[in-house]
Amino acid sequence: MTALIIAIDGPAASGKGTLARRLAAHFGLAHLDTGSLYRAVGRDVLKAALDPADPVAAEQAAASLDPASLDDPRLRDEDVGRAASQVAAHPGVRAALLAFQQRFAATPPGAVLDGRDIGTVICPQAQAKLFVTASPEVRATRRAAELTTRGEAVDYAAVLEDIRVRDARDSGRSTAPLRQAEDAMLVDTSNLTADAVFDLAIRLIGGRLSASVETPPHPDPLRPSGAEREQKESSLSALQGGEG
Ligand code: CDP
Repeated sequence: MTALIIAIDGPAASGKGTLARRLAAHFGLAHLDTGSLYRAVGRDVLKAALDPADPVAAEQAAASLDPASLDDPRLRDEDVGRAASQVAAHPGVRAALLAFQQRFAATPPGAVLDGRDIGTVICPQAQAKLFVTASPEVRATRRAAELTTRGEAVDYAAVLEDIRVRDARDSGRSTAPLRQAEDAMLVDTSNLTADAVFDLAIRLIGGRLSASVETPPHPDPLRPSGAEREQKESSLSALQGGEG
């Protein structure tokens, strides 16, 4: 049985987490919030009173990460979010977390993964990819509301500034920067409710999945079919004096 993989990428507070959870329930798939992995590494570095900007400290924390600790409520704290964005910029940290994410995705029946580099690096073979975004102001408003609900004191200007800094760091890093995969479908949630985003996503994913089922393996008449290609390759290799 092949796994169905749905990749959801996007910047902080774009609504991708809520969408990914709902899509996983809808399609009967597992869900991995990959941000929680980087947050857990950030948390462990802070707990050890080390610096998230230090690649050695961050890589050690990533290598000894306990996946059972991913539902810790402390992961949602702002200082942990900031540390997550710092540790995520170290290539060694990303390398240490790669295999876990790929194994999770490939386990039948499949999974919805949300993050920054799912469609570009972790699962470039995903059958459906969405890039979920919203304006920085809308995202800051949502993040501020989330913090208020959790009983935290909120300064909107500081939240907006934090979102801008995180966007710049996530998009500007050299390893696995945040960017839309070429075959990802863009969903701008700035003016949409969570229900409207979900309905739109279901339509887009449904369209993509049925297109990939209906599309014959070689739809381009100018592109040779497998048999034709084999024939061409063997004649070429015969021309070159190979064994054919
Ligand atoms: O919820 P929010 O978007 O604020 O953050 P998150 O998705 O929990 O991710 C926290 C941080 O981890 C982000 O700022 C990214 O720097 C990093 N991250 C990443 O680099 N790659 C991923 N696949 C997921 C998160």
